[in-house]
Amino acid sequence: MTGGAGFIGSHLCEELLARGDEVVALDNFSTGRLENLKAAMARGSFELVEGDVLDPDLVASLVAQVDRVVHLAAAVGVALVIERPLYTLEVNLLGTHHVLDACARSGKPVLIASTSEVYGHQVADRFNEETPSLLGPVSQMRWVYAVSKLADEYLARAYAAERGLQVICARFFNTTGPRQSGRYGMVVPRFVRAAMRGEPLTVFGDGSQVRCFCHVSDAVRAVAELLQSPDHFGQSFNIGSDEPTTILDLAHKVLEITGSPSPIEFVPLEQAYGVGIVDIEYRVPDISKLVAATGWRPTRTLADIISDIVARYSAEG
Ligand SMILES: NC(=O)c1ccc[n+]([C@@H]2O[C@H](COP(=O)([O-])OP(=O)(O)OC[C@H]3O[C@@H](n4cnc5c(N)ncnc54)[C@H](O)[C@@H]3O)[C@@H](O)[C@H]2O)c1
Repeated sequence: MTGGAGFIGSHLCEELLARGDEVVALDNFSTGRLENLKAAMARGSFELVEGDVLDPDLVASLVAQVDRVVHLAAAVGVALVIERPLYTLEVNLLGTHHVLDACARSGKPVLIASTSEVYGHQVADRFNEETPSLLGPVSQMRWVYAVSKLADEYLARAYAAERGLQVICARFFNTTGPRQSGRYGMVVPRFVRAAMRGEPLTVFGDGSQVRCFCHVSDAVRAVAELLQSPDHFGQSFNIGSDEPTTILDLAHKVLEITGSPSPIEFVPLEQAYGVGIVDIEYRVPDISKLVAATGWRPTRTLADIISDIVARYSAEG
């Protein structure tokens, strides 16, 4: 697995180990943390390799050792991508190319992480896997992340068509829970952290943006289920919760659960990220394809997610 020390990766390591798999995790610790892997490292069937997906020889040698691959390593999050677009394109395009190429050469099936961002600012009641992408102008760096992940999906399909690669594209919608960093603007940990410190909860825009938040333990279970059957390869799947909430309602729920007196402050989006950024107003997945294929459904509510993040921060002190 690449990106194994990250937020989703570390939870997926634990999920796969609990299912009896042996796991080799590759990570360069750019956003991942060794501490995330404490539980995984306590098990004999886990190996950690510190290295970079931009190193094709290392990627090829690790792919040769395993029987299937999950590729999660990426530059993640709109804020990071706006700060470092070149780095984002390098890691997300070249890194994914190295992984797909190694998998194709050695005949290993692979699941790669894509994102709901590939739908862009498309307006649809619920995005299904065939909903067209609608990205903004090239002058807006905000779209670099979506473009890189969209290109990854095309690369995966091209490898499948021309080199017989078995590949699944997992389109994660907002995934959150313990170990997610608020550093790059991930909204739920950011709100929880602010509420616990009695600091203002900063809402970008008017807070009417609609999102669905999926607990990471549900998301990694979906990945593990998708890896179970060869029927799932050659396809893209949405992974996410389909329970919508507005960002403002999320802020109120965080205040209610933490019992925090923090105020809610509204900040124009341009002020938060710089001029020219557009936010996505409405993002709700249609998960019927994943449900039909695997029987998976999310089991954890938004309140569960907030409580779990609070518990994690409390334990960290
Ligand atoms: N969390 C979400 O809501 C979400 C939504 C959509 C898609 N995704 C995708 O899921 C995947 C995992 O995201 P996450 O939220 O766990 O983020 P994360 O930043 O916690 O995980 C990414 C991991 O990849 C590692 N990494 C980055 N560049 C690397 C490189 N060049 N070589 C080796 N390792 C490298 C990082 O150190 C980190 O451990 C990403 O591909 C991301 O695009 C996440």
